Amino acid sequence: MRKLFVKTHNVKRFIGLMNNLIDKSNEVPKMGLVYGDPGLGKTQTAVWWATKNEAVYVRAQNKMTNKWLLEKIVYELGESPSRKMADLIEQCISHLRLKPQVIIIDEVDYLINRMKIVETLRDLHDLTGAPVVLIGMQESKTKLGKYRHLYDRISEILEFKPFSKEDVEVIVEELSEIKISDEAREIFFEKKNRFRQIIKGIALLENLAKTNGLLKIDTKQVKGLTIEK
Ligand SMILES: Nc1ncnc2c1ncn2[C@@H]1O[C@H](COP(=O)(O)OP(=O)(O)OP(=O)(O)O)[C@@H](O)[C@H]1O
Ligand SMILES: [Mg+2]
Repeated sequence: MRKLFVKTHNVKRFIGLMNNLIDKSNEVPKMGLVYGDPGLGKTQTAVWWATKNEAVYVRAQNKMTNKWLLEKIVYELGESPSRKMADLIEQCISHLRLKPQVIIIDEVDYLINRMKIVETLRDLHDLTGAPVVLIGMQESKTKLGKYRHLYDRISEILEFKPFSKEDVEVIVEELSEIKISDEAREIFFEKKNRFRQIIKGIALLENLAKTNGLLKIDTKQVKGLTIEK
């Protein structure tokens, strides 16, 4: 399997959302929300984009406190975190005012029920003008909708969608190290529309080709396999 980053439709739409946020004038709030089912590439896309664009990427964790989140952000900004909560916020603000960077918070579902943290995210956005992008599960849009003061600041929303046939074709073509015929691909990957499923499928076919000394996978081999749902 090749280790490549594939530009799926979701990735292209993510790039579009980021460009829209960055291009907004100062008066318009610059919070974004990206959400969707598991395994569609939200995290991978965010990390890829953050690396290319010098953004701050922080993954929220279970039981994360306000202080813990700010410490992680400060650390990602390249500074050593202060001990006190008030100083931590100050550190973020002064750093971001001097050098604006996009802040991406992944797995935001861990933070949604914590009022204090939601307020901190809003403060970070309001006091620095830095775009703040939240990434979460399918339900996060509804859950965040309950926090009007935060939700009103979200000016760009993107749902990661299950892959189209064309997406699957590009992913298999780019990642598979063996040839798979068009018909075999359509049959075998018909019900697989998430990255983890597709990657497992490619690995299975690569293995099948290796153990049988085949250079190409055809319909014949695929039909012989029990297709996982
Ligand atoms: N654009 C991509 N190109 C190649 N591989 C990818 C890409 N996006 C995701 N993957 C692969 O798919 C796996 C799942 O993707 P990822 O963890 O980003 O999904 P997710 O939407 O964040 O899922 P979750 O909701 O469970 O957090 C990754 O570990 C990676 O191997
Ligand atoms: Mg993820």
